[in-house]
Amino acid sequence: MSRRPIGIFDSGIGGLTVFKEIAKILPNEDLVYLGDTARVPYGTKSAATVTRYAVQNVRFLLRENVKLVIVACNTASAFALEALRREFDLPLLGVIEPGVTGALRSVASKNPKRIVVIGTEGTIASEAYGRALRQRDDSVDAKGVACPLFVPLVEEGWWDTEVTEKVARTYLDETLKTGLEAMILGCTHYPLLKGTLSRIAGPRVALVDSAEETARETAVLLEKEGLKNSSYAAPSHKFYVTDSPERFQRVGSMILERTLSNAHHVEI
Ligand code: DGL
Repeated sequence: MSRRPIGIFDSGIGGLTVFKEIAKILPNEDLVYLGDTARVPYGTKSAATVTRYAVQNVRFLLRENVKLVIVACNTASAFALEALRREFDLPLLGVIEPGVTGALRSVASKNPKRIVVIGTEGTIASEAYGRALRQRDDSVDAKGVACPLFVPLVEEGWWDTEVTEKVARTYLDETLKTGLEAMILGCTHYPLLKGTLSRIAGPRVALVDSAEETARETAVLLEKEGLKNSSYAAPSHKFYVTDSPERFQRVGSMILERTLSNAHHVEI
C-alpha cells in the first residue's frame, strides 16, 4: 500500500505550487497530478458544480491506484472536501486545514489576532477559512477578500510587476489600513505573488503559504496512516490534464522551475 502514489488534483495549473512543495519534502513518493484544465476556473462556479467535478477528479485518481488524495485547489477544498470524505474511503487532505494551522501558529503570541484570507470568489463566499479559524480559536478576527485578477496575472507570468502591485493595492489597501497580523494565501496561485504581497503588506504581517503547510501536513498524515514510502527508488511524477497539455506545460514549467514536458491529455 505504501508504495502506491499520492494523488493531487486542482482545477488547473496552480496546484503545481502544492505539487512542488510535496515533491520537495517527500522525495521518495510517487506523485500523480490531475489538472482539470478543460473546466478551469472553479473559483467562479457554484458549490454543486465544483463538488461534481471534484468527485470525478478523485474517481480518476483512484484508477491510478493512489493511496491518498490531496485536494490542492482551495475552491474545491472549500466546497467539496466534506462530500468527498463521505463518498470515498481513502485519506483525503484539503488545503484549508493546513493553512489555518499555519495562520494560528503565526499569530499564537499576538493580540489582537487579525487574519485576512485572500482567495477566489468561491473560496471567500464559502467562509470556509473564517469558520475553520474561529472554530479553533474564537479570539481570531478573520475576514476575507476575493482577488480574482490574481490568477490570470500569475498565469501571464506577471508575478512581481508594477501592474500586479497596483491590482494588489486596489484589493488590499483598505484591509491593510485596519491593521493585520497574518494573511493567508488561500489560492493555489498566490504563493507566486509573495514578493509583491510582502512588499505591500510590510514585515509585520505574516504571509501564510497554504501550499507549504499542506506539504507538511501530507508528511504527517502519511506517517500517521503508515503510508510513507520508504523505498529509495527514483520517484515517478505523472501529470494529467483534461485539455490539451501545451499551455499547462508552458506555465507549469515556470511554476516548477524545470521543464515540464510529460503531461498527458485525459477524458474523465
Ligand atoms: N485552483 C483555484 C483555487 O485555488 C484557483 C483557480 C480557479 O479558480 O480554478 O481556488
